[in-house]
Amino acid sequence: MSPLHFIISFICIHFNLIISSSTTSFVSPITRDELTQLYIISISIKTPLQSTSFLLDLGGKFSWIDCTPNNYISSTNHYIPCGTSQCNSLYSLACSNCFKPSGPGCHNNSCALFPENPVIKNTILAQALVDSLALTLTDGQTVGQLAVVPNFVLSCCDDSLLTGLPDGVSGLAGLGRSNYSLPAQVSRVYASPNIFALCLPGPSSSSELPGPAFFNTAGPYYFSPNIDLSTHLIYTPLVLNPIGFTIITYYNHPSDEYFINLTSININGKPLSISQSLLTINKSGFGGTRLSTITPYTTLKTSIYDAFIELFVNESYALNLTVIDDPVSPFEVCYVADDVYCNSLGPAVPVIDLVMHSEDVFWRIFGGNSMVRIGDFWCLGFVNGGDDARSSVVIGGKQMEDNLLQFDLESERLGFSSSVLVHDTNCGSFDFSDDN
Ligand SMILES: *[C@@H]1O[C@H](CO)[C@@H](O)[C@H](O)[C@H]1NC(C)=O
Ligand SMILES: *[C@@H]1O[C@H](CO)[C@@H](O)[C@H](O)[C@H]1NC(C)=O
Ligand SMILES: *[C@@H]1O[C@H](CO)[C@@H](O)[C@H](O)[C@H]1NC(C)=O
Ligand SMILES: *[C@@H]1O[C@H](CO)[C@@H](O)[C@H](O)[C@H]1NC(C)=O
Ligand SMILES: *[C@@H]1O[C@H](CO)[C@@H](O)[C@H](O)[C@H]1NC(C)=O
Ligand SMILES: *[C@@H]1O[C@H](CO)[C@@H](O)[C@H](O)[C@H]1NC(C)=O
Repeated sequence: MSPLHFIISFICIHFNLIISSSTTSFVSPITRDELTQLYIISISIKTPLQSTSFLLDLGGKFSWIDCTPNNYISSTNHYIPCGTSQCNSLYSLACSNCFKPSGPGCHNNSCALFPENPVIKNTILAQALVDSLALTLTDGQTVGQLAVVPNFVLSCCDDSLLTGLPDGVSGLAGLGRSNYSLPAQVSRVYASPNIFALCLPGPSSSSELPGPAFFNTAGPYYFSPNIDLSTHLIYTPLVLNPIGFTIITYYNHPSDEYFINLTSININGKPLSISQSLLTINKSGFGGTRLSTITPYTTLKTSIYDAFIELFVNESYALNLTVIDDPVSPFEVCYVADDVYCNSLGPAVPVIDLVMHSEDVFWRIFGGNSMVRIGDFWCLGFVNGGDDARSSVVIGGKQMEDNLLQFDLESERLGFSSSVLVHDTNCGSFDFSDDN
């Protein structure tokens, strides 16, 4: 056996050990970018491994990264030739050649994709890329070593596609329902369940502490002080939208975004009157309720929004709260902060319940998730999505913060906790330090 051969087989054995280890759940930190109100997930990629910031896109079909020459240096990257089964399974719509020096994102006969920027709604033609990724092992309470996810498939992009994304971000991590999303690939490599969970950090997670994204695990999810939030989840089915709204059309492809069966919105227990047809997804993919990490504040189609605002304002009179005349755009309902009493769940304002498929399954929204502090005011953090909104309700980042959300692709259901502040913890309370 040549020395080189020995080294290679040693590496392979080492690798198999990592893969077959019994703990195959992972955790990655999520931070919030104040300027854009978008979320950043940090993941190690390339060889040698490099910690890299990606925009977190819950509905993203696949991930992509800036392959500008000199930005992408890795000894493990390769391309996917056109016409291969892997290229076909990516639903590639193009094959691309390259007339620049060969390198990541620049090969001939290379499987091409259309990575999308959901913020500025743009796409480019770019080559697929395969490389090693690494995620931090966890048992749900403490963090362990990095473990490699070999042959991770993503797309290249050039830096034009980074427009509108937070500073320091080099690409996008797609967490959608597709077979090539980050959670789907990670669960395939480790033959673990495709169940992931997000706890987006909110303002109460103060001091900029990151919130965790868990992969390949239904729990436990421990937060300080020793609270397993997986025991506080309630579930609602995930609903499939038959039509995807990607910039590039993939015919006969359902949406990779997550929809749920919202049937009613109650404020202080009083239901809004909403036309049920708006809450169901029609054959063209319109209507229904979607979750989006790209939408900072929940948007409601105009007819729902108008009824929502009216009922919320009515209910707030009982709390002696009077709406100010000059609200802070884009919000329409603001109160003088001094008039609003605050408790451990945030400003004491009318409670909003998102009622799901059954009356006793509701996502409760307290002031900490409904109200946005702007200078001397507290404003209701919901916005008018307009008459033409394709989804009638889009649950945005602000309303997801400090909530644990579990996306279970095995059982096709969403587990949600409502505000974890109720349990005296917050999303910044997962212990990422590896010194225990
Ligand atoms: C692709 O093929 C063309 C024509 O044969 C050649 O000029 C070019 O250098 C090749 N590109 C790469 C990246 O190898
Ligand atoms: C995803 O993968 C599964 C299992 O390999 C396959 O049955 C399914 O058709 C794939 N879905 C899509 C949209 O390609
Ligand atoms: C679905 O709803 C949209 C928006 O209301 C409408 O334009 C479209 O025609 C509807 N499609 C079907 C099949 O009803
Ligand atoms: C709000 O209160 C006003 C005055 O009491 C009433 O006319 C109106 O119907 C109420 N609106 C809602 C949505 O409850
Ligand atoms: C609202 O104001 C009235 C009159 O000042 C007072 O009697 C009442 O207790 C207040 N209600 C609340 C909920 O603060
Ligand atoms: C949503 O829930 C209602 C009430 O349980 C049910 O009738 C309806 O079929 C559900 N819709 C979907 C798409 O699951």
